[in-house]
Amino acid sequence: MAEIQIGLVGLGGRGLGWLKLLQRLKGYRVVALCDPIVALHERALAVLENRAEVRRYQRYEDLLADPQVEAVALCVRCPEQGALAAEALLAGKHVSAEVPAAHSIEDCWHIALAAERSGRIFHLAEQTRYWGFVERWRQLVSAGRLGKITFCEGQYLGYYGTRQFFQDPATGQFCPVEDLARHPEARPTWLQGMQPIHYLPHELGPMLKVLDDRVVEVVGMGTDAPSAAHPQIHQADIQVALMKTEKGAVLRLAAGFTQPIPHRDHHWYQVMGTGGCVEWRRANHEKAKVWLADSGSTEWEEVDWGFAREDAPEEARNSGHGDADYYVHAAFCDAVLHGRPLELDLYRALDTAAPAILAADSIAEGSRPRRVPDFRPGPQRTLGQAPAGEAD
Ligand SMILES: NC(=O)c1ccc[n+]([C@@H]2O[C@H](COP(=O)([O-])OP(=O)(O)OC[C@H]3O[C@@H](n4cnc5c(N)ncnc54)[C@H](O)[C@@H]3O)[C@@H](O)[C@H]2O)c1
Repeated sequence: MAEIQIGLVGLGGRGLGWLKLLQRLKGYRVVALCDPIVALHERALAVLENRAEVRRYQRYEDLLADPQVEAVALCVRCPEQGALAAEALLAGKHVSAEVPAAHSIEDCWHIALAAERSGRIFHLAEQTRYWGFVERWRQLVSAGRLGKITFCEGQYLGYYGTRQFFQDPATGQFCPVEDLARHPEARPTWLQGMQPIHYLPHELGPMLKVLDDRVVEVVGMGTDAPSAAHPQIHQADIQVALMKTEKGAVLRLAAGFTQPIPHRDHHWYQVMGTGGCVEWRRANHEKAKVWLADSGSTEWEEVDWGFAREDAPEEARNSGHGDADYYVHAAFCDAVLHGRPLELDLYRALDTAAPAILAADSIAEGSRPRRVPDFRPGPQRTLGQAPAGEAD
């Protein structure tokens, strides 16, 4: 069977998860690894059965120069995430990138133009769009059961304690805030520099899929850094974005990494229309809810919607995040090996990044409203925001 010869970049926790999964999925062969922290290389090699044939790189440009690498799995966490994807595309590699796609509008343009010029595939591995309940909500909306959509909410409160904010740059070991006094070698990670609202792909991705829409305008507001909950962490606890879509719906999206929450169900969503509403559960022991205006009822009805999909193939089981992790790798494989169109194509992927980036910019500018560029080729690509000399 044909296999994608893939090089994985970024050997943190997520990269390690990808290696384990890619190794057991059909259509992939890991041929190279890359991370500037050499101390992380052995841990990654140790999960690979074909480790003897896997080449290791410290420098990204060396991995890109490897002619055997056909595709790059980008699992880095850094401000230049988007620029690295564009670089790989221009080097002739297909790219499957972790979320978010980019941290600047310029890098969104770089990805769009690099993919168009190179003809290579850019795939954003945003997996929550494949959840079972998201598909059920999409079907309800596209069948018109919720009427005209007026309001939609999504929030990601990714609170995992304080461990990801300080790290020993030599070993890659993370250090929780509570242990900092015993680890003078620990340094702030880039996550402290990242605006929390940039981490919206798991909210915008699935909700824009449900609505079949894109964001045209955004305004943001947030609490002030440092964190009120953990003052050693220089980050806002909560950032909120209000967005208007092309079809006229209003979205309220929120994100934060330092706001303590009582359980591990970090995502929450609701969609409202003139014909009814659906709402995700607030806590793990609750159920999702639906109310349809024509039901004759004035009460919400509880529904057994979940993460897993009833039509999931065996390979998807236990792949991660309610079986959703399987789907991103299957989609990339189908696109690269069999030419199948991506559900989350290049432009829809950028639709999940640009509004979030501009929400952070809006916060920095005292909540000034910002227009969101449409990266698709065509007359609307005239907002003058493409890098000089690069716009069509
Ligand atoms: N889809 C999901 O559910 C999900 C879950 C967790 C993380 N993520 C995403 O996965 C990515 C990695 O997350 P993580 O928790 O493993 O982060 P991490 O910080 O633990 O690891 C990232 C690794 O990338 C390396 N890196 C940074 N810049 C690099 C560069 N220029 N070239 C090569 N390597 C570089 C770092 O040295 C580090 O080892 C992030 O983008 C994050 O947003 C997604």
